[in-house]
Amino acid sequence: MLPDSLTRQNTRAVGQSSVPVVNSYTEWDPLEEVIVGRADHACIPEWHAVLEATMPQRHWEFFRRHGGRRFAAELLVEAARELDVLSQVLESEGVAVRRPDPVDWSVPFQTPAFGPIVGLYGAMPRDVLLVVGDEIIEAPMAWRCRYFEPLAYRSLLKGYFRQGARWTAAPKPELADDFYIAAPPGGGYNINLGISAVSEAEPVFDAADFCRVGRDIFCQRSHVTNQFGIAWLARHLGPAFRVHTLAFDDPNAMHIDASFVPLAPGRLLVNPARLTPNTLPAMFDQWEILIAPEPTVSESHPFYFTSRWLSLNVLSLDERRVVVEAEEQPMIDFLKSKGFEPIPVKFRNFGSLGGAFHCATCDVRRRGGLQSYF
Ligand code: ALA
Repeated sequence: MLPDSLTRQNTRAVGQSSVPVVNSYTEWDPLEEVIVGRADHACIPEWHAVLEATMPQRHWEFFRRHGGRRFAAELLVEAARELDVLSQVLESEGVAVRRPDPVDWSVPFQTPAFGPIVGLYGAMPRDVLLVVGDEIIEAPMAWRCRYFEPLAYRSLLKGYFRQGARWTAAPKPELADDFYIAAPPGGGYNINLGISAVSEAEPVFDAADFCRVGRDIFCQRSHVTNQFGIAWLARHLGPAFRVHTLAFDDPNAMHIDASFVPLAPGRLLVNPARLTPNTLPAMFDQWEILIAPEPTVSESHPFYFTSRWLSLNVLSLDERRVVVEAEEQPMIDFLKSKGFEPIPVKFRNFGSLGGAFHCATCDVRRRGGLQSYF
């Protein structure tokens, strides 16, 4: 017999929500509990094919020169402060906030296939953990430096399991040298043309390449998510879910959540720079498509890992309340004009680590069950 601490208690204690401890089917159902990442000990990734495929070219030299070292202490202090403020704002809106364990990512590790190499960070739970219903899935990530990143969340995951959640780790990839594809001479990597940094030899995906809209889950093929990974997830989730692969105009694609952001049933925020006439299938014909305004952040801002379009990387607390970058006034005005209630939070320093509010969080529990919105 299992000890009491491991038996499945699928709902929470009397007096608390009756929703299972892990329960999230959409990006907008009312948020009750969220994991907010940590900036502590974040390291700069070492130069590699997957960085060449995904990182803005103006920052390649930064990675080449500094890869393997910690980020500047001042940046990490400011990013940690912004995460603490975000946590306080979420708590003041009635959301329970959990944090991963602090980990020293500068300790090198080795596997039979690669290394020694330092880790990255515990800043972006969205990349690592995919919550679908009452299940949390650890993603099989393609960046070698992220190999052991799920360990930062294991205290939380064990706790959620003990409270009834399902907990799965997708097959751990080997990430040997021959898994990666060398950039073709001349043109370089371009996912629009199917030229990815990763092959199809084993399944890989980042959780942030998937977006939940009830029974329909939308994803993109990217330089960290291959077709094998998408197929693994679709088969794992089974017939209750339909996984759709969308194609954006994003040659350096990595993570869908600055391109395609469902905010409410029938309401989708999109990145106009990445939309093509074929991106949205006919199932969106009845949806309201909200075209995001141009971001205000300058091209020269040190967003080492991303484009300027982090302005779309918002976190919905429900169908109206949306956490949004305080310095993105056009986005705030736009959302207000559409009837949303933006909650501005300053997050520009954290952005240098490669994400904003959606990336920095993982919604563990939202009220609401499995539905179809199409
Ligand atoms: N990779 C995404 C972007 O740069 C987050 O917009």
